[in-house]
Amino acid sequence: MIFYNTLIYWYLQNNRELPWRKTKNPYFIWLSEIMLQQTRVAQGLAYYLKFIETFPTVFHLANADESTVLKMWQGLGYYSRARNLHYSAKLIANELNGEFPSTYKEIIKLKGIGDYTASAISSICFNEATAVVDGNVYRVLSRYYGIKTPINTSAGIKEFKTLAQSLIDKTQPGTFNQAIMDFGAIQCKPQNPLCDTCPFSSSCVALEKQLIKELPIKERKIKVRKRYFNFLVIKTKNYKTILSERKGKGIWQGLYQFPLIESEKVINKNELVTSEKFIDLFPIETTISLFNQKEIVHKLSHQHLYTQFWIVEIENLSKATVKWNEIEKYPVPILIANFLETYQSKK
Ligand code: ADE
Repeated sequence: MIFYNTLIYWYLQNNRELPWRKTKNPYFIWLSEIMLQQTRVAQGLAYYLKFIETFPTVFHLANADESTVLKMWQGLGYYSRARNLHYSAKLIANELNGEFPSTYKEIIKLKGIGDYTASAISSICFNEATAVVDGNVYRVLSRYYGIKTPINTSAGIKEFKTLAQSLIDKTQPGTFNQAIMDFGAIQCKPQNPLCDTCPFSSSCVALEKQLIKELPIKERKIKVRKRYFNFLVIKTKNYKTILSERKGKGIWQGLYQFPLIESEKVINKNELVTSEKFIDLFPIETTISLFNQKEIVHKLSHQHLYTQFWIVEIENLSKATVKWNEIEKYPVPILIANFLETYQSKK
């Protein structure tokens, strides 16, 4: 079976009739492809029609005020798309005599155009065999071939682009690209795909192995949280300090630490000593200095801790019960152990 034959046969019977499919004018294809990013066809359609009525050529768009362009875009969201569109329209009108570049290599140089849009325009308008890879393509190919490489990794992006490129019908790349996107949108849908009537069902790996719901795989990107830690290293006249056990769940559970004041950002001495928590801890006179001039960044899997160690010298403090010469006995996080090593060696 030749993949593109089955696909294009399906497309001839099922394709959606859309206004931009009646033209090969790159200006119209460009507009439609930019509008359809992060927007469903049903919603994008009305915007497209209104847009080309107002700006029938690239010169009309180039000569418009940015505020008029943005107004026309209102409701579509991602306004940088409209700003880039306007910017590139001005470039095409003023520097390229209104002539749209005609190869993938030239098209991708335009502001706001990435691999997907350059592939779509060069294949649809100029018959260049450049495969598009959008969400639909990821879904169709990952299911049909049973590919588990996460689609949002550089390895996945490369693998799917190479595969799509190897499957494209070089005699009609624009039709192939639109066919695979329509196939993903109509037949191989994210939820409840129409496998019963699918022309690929006899050789679809995901269908055979019951992986339809799992594919495509997206790696969960963990968001790193930034936190700002201020450890208060207390030194009393009789060489005592405070260390307390970290309670509750977490990686440092059961370990000991100096009193900690967490802040919203890296703070200076004045901000520290006037904070409520500091005044609570030390209602009495202290001498305070910052030990590490540049904050130490301790990287954990989900958090980056921007840490400052403050040396707090104080006459006497009843809460300070840990003797400095016994401090090694306490299990501490590596962040504090490293500090202690440097601090003790400098004394
Ligand atoms: N989604 C975005 N552009 C498309 C196109 N040209 N054909 C089908 N679906 C699309």
